[in-house]
Amino acid sequence: MTSSALAETAQALVADGKGILAADESSPTIKKRFDSIKIESTEENRRDYRDMLFTTPDAGKYISGVILYDETIRQKAADGTPLVDKLTKAGMIPGIKVDMGAKPLAGHPEETVTEGLDGLRGRLEEYAKLGARFTKWRGVYRIGDAIPSAGCITANAHALARYAALAQEAGLVPIVEPEVLMDGDHDIDVCEAVTEEVLRSVYNELALQDVWLEGTLLKPNMVISGQDCKDQAGVQEVAERSVQCLKRTVPAAVPGIVFLSGGQSDALATEHLNAMNRLPGTLPWKLSFSYGRALQAAPLKAWSGKAANLEKGQAAFLKRAQDNAAAASGKYAA
Ligand code: 13P
Repeated sequence: MTSSALAETAQALVADGKGILAADESSPTIKKRFDSIKIESTEENRRDYRDMLFTTPDAGKYISGVILYDETIRQKAADGTPLVDKLTKAGMIPGIKVDMGAKPLAGHPEETVTEGLDGLRGRLEEYAKLGARFTKWRGVYRIGDAIPSAGCITANAHALARYAALAQEAGLVPIVEPEVLMDGDHDIDVCEAVTEEVLRSVYNELALQDVWLEGTLLKPNMVISGQDCKDQAGVQEVAERSVQCLKRTVPAAVPGIVFLSGGQSDALATEHLNAMNRLPGTLPWKLSFSYGRALQAAPLKAWSGKAANLEKGQAAFLKRAQDNAAAASGKYAA
């Protein structure tokens, strides 16, 4: 894979008016989602649910790529077609989550470091053979009393950079995801300061590991008030402060920034992205989405595990995809 092929994939993932579906919930996480609609998390149910999303007519007009979980990239639909083939046929690029999850960071109670570097080179090679063209690794940072610590920030940035270099070596675009959680009662100022520090450290480590930024995407949190903060910043303030923070920290060589939704309501995830894309002035990178919950909550509920609801689930998914694609161009109207 040449570096220009990496850049082409990265650019295709943030093509005008398109964004990414994160459908890479690990087994414990998808179980939680299925618990909410009272269906059992069996391999068959997971397969049918994801098959429903991936075969939604016209989804490929709004969704550029889909992040899969290890089970899904190997899975065949009930009709025997590999799910990866269904995505490719519908014009969506298959991607894969390659980290092994956030694990307790020794010596740092309440903090985590994301693991999965051991053996990663071999796993990446296999994923490339299975059809993946891009990858994701998520570092997690919790805001609290004197955290995130410098130890947590540097450990996660280091892992993200090591991962990104290995992904590029395998010809796969790395999506670098440092997520500052919205849990807590901190205000937007704290979120901004922490996000800025985290992003600075991530780009510093990416430079140390010689990661080629043109062949990467960033998947950050937005700069928002903590979930339990009494004084919730409005849509315009979130948009302005998120963009300001990113302008200070993300090099112009990065082709695109695809936000995570992180527990925001569907409406806010869409409105925030739309407001950012409507700010005056030009930006060096595309601003789009790589939402999990903000794209899937509605179709999950509409489907509710019943084959008879397939079309309802697909209609709900298409609507969320259309709204967020419009927001990625600043053209969403509530
Ligand atoms: P959410 O949009 O639900 O935060 O999921 C995105 C994701 O991939 C988190 O790693």
